[in-house]
Amino acid sequence: MKKMNFQKYAAYPSVDISARSWPDKTITKAPIWSSVDLRDGNQALPIPMSVAEKVAMFQLLVSVGFKEIEVGFPSASATEFAFVRRLVNDGLIPDDVTIQVLTQAREHLIRKTFDAIKGAKHAIVHLYNSTSRLQRDVVFRKNREEIKAIAIEGTALVRRLKDESGNAGIRFEYSPESFTGTELDYALDVCHAVMDTWGASASDKIILNLPSTVEMSLPNIYADRIEWFCRNIKNRDAVLISVHAHNDRGTAVATAELAVMAGADRVEGALFGNGERCGNMDIVIMALNLFSQGVDPELDFSDLPRIREVYRRCTRMDIHPRHPYAGDLVYTAFSGSHQDAISKGMKAQPQSPGGLWAVPYLPIDPQDVGCNYEAIVRINSQSGKGGVAYVLEKDYGIQIPKWMQPDFAEVVQAVADTTGVELSPDQIHELFHAEYVKLREPVSLKKCHIRWEDEDLERLDEEATAITCIVQTKEKEFSFDAQGNGPLDAFVKGFIRESGLEFSVDDYAEHSIGHSAGALAIAYIRIGCADGRISYGAGIDSNISLASIKATVSALNRLP
Ligand code: KIV
Ligand code: ZN
Repeated sequence: MKKMNFQKYAAYPSVDISARSWPDKTITKAPIWSSVDLRDGNQALPIPMSVAEKVAMFQLLVSVGFKEIEVGFPSASATEFAFVRRLVNDGLIPDDVTIQVLTQAREHLIRKTFDAIKGAKHAIVHLYNSTSRLQRDVVFRKNREEIKAIAIEGTALVRRLKDESGNAGIRFEYSPESFTGTELDYALDVCHAVMDTWGASASDKIILNLPSTVEMSLPNIYADRIEWFCRNIKNRDAVLISVHAHNDRGTAVATAELAVMAGADRVEGALFGNGERCGNMDIVIMALNLFSQGVDPELDFSDLPRIREVYRRCTRMDIHPRHPYAGDLVYTAFSGSHQDAISKGMKAQPQSPGGLWAVPYLPIDPQDVGCNYEAIVRINSQSGKGGVAYVLEKDYGIQIPKWMQPDFAEVVQAVADTTGVELSPDQIHELFHAEYVKLREPVSLKKCHIRWEDEDLERLDEEATAITCIVQTKEKEFSFDAQGNGPLDAFVKGFIRESGLEFSVDDYAEHSIGHSAGALAIAYIRIGCADGRISYGAGIDSNISLASIKATVSALNRLP
């Protein structure tokens, strides 16, 4: 094995913090959500959204319940500017929604940003500059004080333009970009300077957004940084601490969750994690994680199929089939033992204490997010008896008895092994009929007449039922009259006598299919022969006695 050059990388520093409190916290309330789909998400698309697509995405975000939506970087592109103007001019922003616009800390860009939001009732001007050590050294070639001065000058201009606009609905957000690459004491120093310049107070809070611009450490270290920051910020009441996590290590959701435990008030992210490189923190996952813990997510993801459709159409991005909560396969079980457990859990769910969701392998009820149970069980060669039985019962009302399920599971498995593909519920239903119901050879029932020998309905005589049958086998056609304690008993006795085949009925079950008066009955049977052979059959008829006799004939036809 070739050794990878791991010495090329240095470990991320831990935080010098004593008695951290966040590990003992639980999240009991949703944070303030801010969507960055139209800015961070859009800037990372191979084909950025058109104005019409942005409008559709904005309306989707509003319908989901976002109250803060970063709508773009209007000073950076004509489309972004036009889009923000369209939102304002066409009155597309509901009164309770605040749009957010990003700008670099440069005078002409800040001025253009204010032009873009002119007339908006509520807007957040989001100013950023990179504070990371690496970028200070290799990108800007500026020292700490020079980088801090950029933030201060930008903040002062935003303050002045806000005051000149007379629009009290304008708020301010500052991001020390690349916070994860910035020394904590320095990030705090810059943020204090920004707060002072803005004049932040409890009645005029600013948003300090501490981005994990590049995810560089375990989520617990980021949480330590957030707790450290919240402890050391000089006027905690004057700020809302916001987090904005990217997903470079695949743990952006955990990063944001632990950050909320560590004191963050606000979380930025994007639907399905769209965003630069490995994406932004996925708000769908984080919100539904809260939901699955009994916490109101304060966002409405009850119609994920619609949300997925608009998202795919606007962004031209796919959602992985195994994407948590939203992927096409996440409410589907392929393994037999999972299918069996899901099937039992679904049946037991109505009795679950307090109505709490308690179905194995399904952390949430798929119906809560607009997905239905149809796709939960699919059958392939790995599926067990529970899954097969579940499909037949759920989709066709056929309740194969337990003692017959292994036999049918083997049949299904053999077909799946041969074809190498999944079987649809229709194919399974068809297979059940072909294998157990529609069998006419070598034995077929030509005629069957059942009567009760006595008109006395109270009579419990063992031989009260008489039957007359004509049966065709490969060799011959024969008829018989027989009596028994019921039609099935009479048939079995007569058939044994005439054919010479010694067998007994070892198991029997029946039920109706459907609820109307004209519903059909289905009977299931297992027969055992004196020579040790066993066989299963099923029969369907409007008359339950005839259904049981048909089931016996089917079982005879399946004898090995
Ligand atoms: O990832 C980031 O740091 C950003 C900032 C502009 C907030 O997107
Ligand atoms: Zn970002």
